[in-house]
Amino acid sequence: MAKIQKVWAVEILDSRANPTVECAIQLDSGAVAVASVPSGASTGTHEALELRDNDPERFKGKGVVKAVTNVNQVLGPAIVGMDPTDQDGVDNRLKGLDSTPNKSKLGANAILSVSLANAKAASIANNFAPYKWVNQLAQRKGIVVQTLKVPTPVFNMINGGLHGAGNLDFQEFFVIPASSKKFSDGLREGAEIYLSIGENLKRRGAIHSVGDEGGYAPNLFTNADALEILVETIKQTPYAIGRDVFLGLDVAASHFFNGNAYSIRDKSAPVEENGMLDYYRELNGTYHLAILEDPLNEDSWSGWKNITQTLGAEVLIVGDDLLATNPQRVQKATAEHACNAILVKPNQIGTVTETLEVIKMARDANWKIIISHRSGETNDWFIADFGVGVGADYAKFGAPARGERVAKYNRLSSIEVELSLANQNA
Ligand code: PGA
Ligand code: ZN
Repeated sequence: MAKIQKVWAVEILDSRANPTVECAIQLDSGAVAVASVPSGASTGTHEALELRDNDPERFKGKGVVKAVTNVNQVLGPAIVGMDPTDQDGVDNRLKGLDSTPNKSKLGANAILSVSLANAKAASIANNFAPYKWVNQLAQRKGIVVQTLKVPTPVFNMINGGLHGAGNLDFQEFFVIPASSKKFSDGLREGAEIYLSIGENLKRRGAIHSVGDEGGYAPNLFTNADALEILVETIKQTPYAIGRDVFLGLDVAASHFFNGNAYSIRDKSAPVEENGMLDYYRELNGTYHLAILEDPLNEDSWSGWKNITQTLGAEVLIVGDDLLATNPQRVQKATAEHACNAILVKPNQIGTVTETLEVIKMARDANWKIIISHRSGETNDWFIADFGVGVGADYAKFGAPARGERVAKYNRLSSIEVELSLANQNA
């Protein structure tokens, strides 16, 4: 049996120049596993707490020295001597030390860094590829994955909302390759379309710098204009919408909801829920959306139920801020049929084990699973292995550009080849 010998943490930078936590776990064999945690900008109210120092003298208050200290002095010492392959045991110990419902005492960033590093350490101890090890953990939770395969990528081509330049309200405009395609073909399509969008924006004299997730952050008039750019661009490529690729949106609507109505550039005055629902029906009529994430405010349960009832047969209605990878919220949403797909972000809940438990609940409700990065990322690619191991349907890792995004897509490319070689040898 392998044993955890030493645990330490480091304050590193994420892709937005903000600090985040990296954790290293050394096993008694001497092997070291390292993992880091991402960070959101459009965080849901119901997420576990990301512990920041709030010391204005350092990193504009965003330092994570307290979280690093919590790993070094509290969480790490408590798991020394434990067997890393007992992920449940390790995560329960970590959770128990915090004992708050939202991990506000020690910080979900501190706790998740240890939980992730432990899963990586266990894969090393077992001599398993990380995705195979995650699959073992998933099986222990009753998650059935018929055949290991690489999820369909969801490329975020245009960035608005809190990730963009400021003039688009919707946060993410997706191009999604057909699920029947090989990952490598979908990745190539995504990359070629991405480059063509850049050329198109340049031709129009629109800003073509990029936002937080690597998608372009153009200065357009309306959100629908961004969808139009995607359609126009794809027409100039060999690919066809509805055959090779599909469109989608992460609206992240909580961020332009004022408690009563939604303010978007497409409408001259703020619109109430019914107006938004009508607008989504209209957009879906024109663009045949495959994915519609966070179309409404995170606590507008009746509206969510309504949109899932009316559009859910054609469109994946995805809960991100609505669900916050939180078991209680997922339970409520399954009971109320508030959505039909979940965006899974381990740092919204804070441990590998709880993330797996949420995935099991979502699978039992027959929901689609989208595994997701955050807008603030590191080059850690473990989330790619996690997505394969749990049998996720989709992987949303941003644009097919920028190091911290392609670290994950490239990992999926490697896994696809590894899986096909394993099948040839079987
Ligand atoms: P975030 O954005 O990481 O800033 O929360 C991603 C998303 O909303 O899906
Ligand atoms: Zn989202």
